[in-house]
Amino acid sequence: MAKLWGGRFSKNTNELVDAFNASIDFDKRLYHEDIRGSIAHASMLAKCGIIPAQDGEKIVAGLKDILKDIEAGNFKFEVALEDIHMNIEARLTERIGQAGARLHTARSRNDQVALDMHMYMKREVAEIAELLIQFEAALLSVAKKHSKTLMPGYTHLQRAQPITFAHHLLAYFNMLQRDFRRLQGVWEGADMMPLGAGAIAGTTFPIDRFDVAEQLNFGKVYSNSMDAVSDRDYVIEFLSFASILMMHMSRLSEEICLWSSTEFGFIELDDAFATGSSMMPQKKNPDIAELVRGKTGRVYGHLQAMLVTAKGLPLTYNKDLQEDKEGFFDAVDTIKFALAVYRDMILTMTVNVDKMQQAVSKDFSNATDLADYLVRKGLPFRQAHEVVGKCVAYAIHNGKFLPEITLEEYKTFSDLFEADLLQALQPENCVASRKSYGGPAFSENEKQFAAGEKVLQAQQEILQDLQQRL
Ligand code: ARG
Repeated sequence: MAKLWGGRFSKNTNELVDAFNASIDFDKRLYHEDIRGSIAHASMLAKCGIIPAQDGEKIVAGLKDILKDIEAGNFKFEVALEDIHMNIEARLTERIGQAGARLHTARSRNDQVALDMHMYMKREVAEIAELLIQFEAALLSVAKKHSKTLMPGYTHLQRAQPITFAHHLLAYFNMLQRDFRRLQGVWEGADMMPLGAGAIAGTTFPIDRFDVAEQLNFGKVYSNSMDAVSDRDYVIEFLSFASILMMHMSRLSEEICLWSSTEFGFIELDDAFATGSSMMPQKKNPDIAELVRGKTGRVYGHLQAMLVTAKGLPLTYNKDLQEDKEGFFDAVDTIKFALAVYRDMILTMTVNVDKMQQAVSKDFSNATDLADYLVRKGLPFRQAHEVVGKCVAYAIHNGKFLPEITLEEYKTFSDLFEADLLQALQPENCVASRKSYGGPAFSENEKQFAAGEKVLQAQQEILQDLQQRL
C-alpha cells in the first residue's frame, strides 16, 4: 500500500517495520476526534481562503460519510496506513479525490495527534467526573444510613478509638473530593488547542488557530508551536490523577477485604458482587475489591512509563510519544470500570451493625476517653495516660474490659475516679463527645452530611459546565 509520505522513498517498508510502527490497533479509538478535528481544520482552511470553498465542503461531507462508515463497522483499518490519521485521510482522498489531498495543508500529524488526544481526554474527563460523582453519592448515602453505627477506628490496624461507620466512609468521601478537584485540573491541561503548530514551527499559511479552537470549544490555544507538539503534561497529569484515585480505591478495597473476612465480619458483599471458589464450596471472595487493588499497580505503571518515556526526549516530536496512548487508554478504562462497579458494590453490601457494635464494646478503644475523664477531673494528660495505662494492664491481666472493673479497684489507681466513669466508657458517649471540628461526633457528622450534599450539587454544576464545553 502506498504511503502518504512515500515520495522520497524508493522501497516498500519492511513488514516488521510496518507492524512495529503502526498505532492503528489502539489509536483507532480516536476516530471521532480525528474526524471532528479535521472538519474544523478544513472549514478554517476554506474560511481563510487557503483551500477552495468547494473543496472544503467536499472534505467535510466526505469525512462525515467516513464517520458513518466507521460507526456502522464498515471501515477497514489498514496497518500499512500506520495510524488513525492516515487511515482516514487516505480513505478520504480515495473517495473524493483531489480535494481530500488538500486536507493536510498547514497541518502535521504531530499537531493533529495532539489535538485528537486533547479532545479525547476532555470527553473522558467529563465521563469520569460523572462516575466519580455517582461513587461519591453512593458513599454519602451509605454513610447517612450508618450515622449511628458504632465501630472501632484503627491505627496500626489495632483498635484505637470508637467512631461511626459514617465517619469512616466520610473519610473516603473527602478523599474523592480531592480527586474531583484534581480531575478539574486535568481538564485545564486538556482544554488547550495545539493544532496549527504544524510539525514544529507553525506554518507559512494564514491560518486562524482561534477559529479552530472556537469550533472545537477549546478555552485556550497553545502559544508556542514547539510546546504544542511536544507537550504530554496533560497525559501525565491524567495518569497522576488516575494513580491517586486508584490509590484511594485500593485502600478502600483493602478494608472491604478485611471487613468481609470472617475475622472482622463487618460487612457482607451482595452475591452479585462476590465470587466463589472452584474447589471450596463455602467460599465467597471479594474479587472486585482485590482486582481494584491489583489494577492500581498497573495504573501506577502507566504513570511511571509515561514519565520515563518523556524524560529524555529532546524537543519536539519524537516517535516515543506514540507510547502515550495505550497506557492512557488503559487507565481510562480501568478507572471507569472501578468507579462504576464500586458505586454499585457499596450500595448493595450488607453492613453488620451488630458485629461492629460488638467489636467496639469488647475492646479497649475507650481507654483515651478514660484518660480524658481524669483530665476533666484535673489530672495533667500525661499522668492520666499513665494511670489508665496501668488500669488497662490490670484489666488485661484479669481478663476484663474497662467497664467491668469495679470502682474500688479503680480507686487503687487514682482517687479521682468516681461512679460517673462508666458514662465516659460508653462507646456512644465516646463518639458523641468528640465534637471537635471534623471529629466523629454524631452532631459533627450531621453537618458533614449537609456539607457533602452541597459539594455534590456543586460538582454536578461543574460537570454540566464541562459537558457543554466538549
Ligand atoms: N501515530 C503517531 C503518534 O501517535 C502520530 C504522529 C506521527 N508523527 C510523525 N511525525 N511520525 O504519535
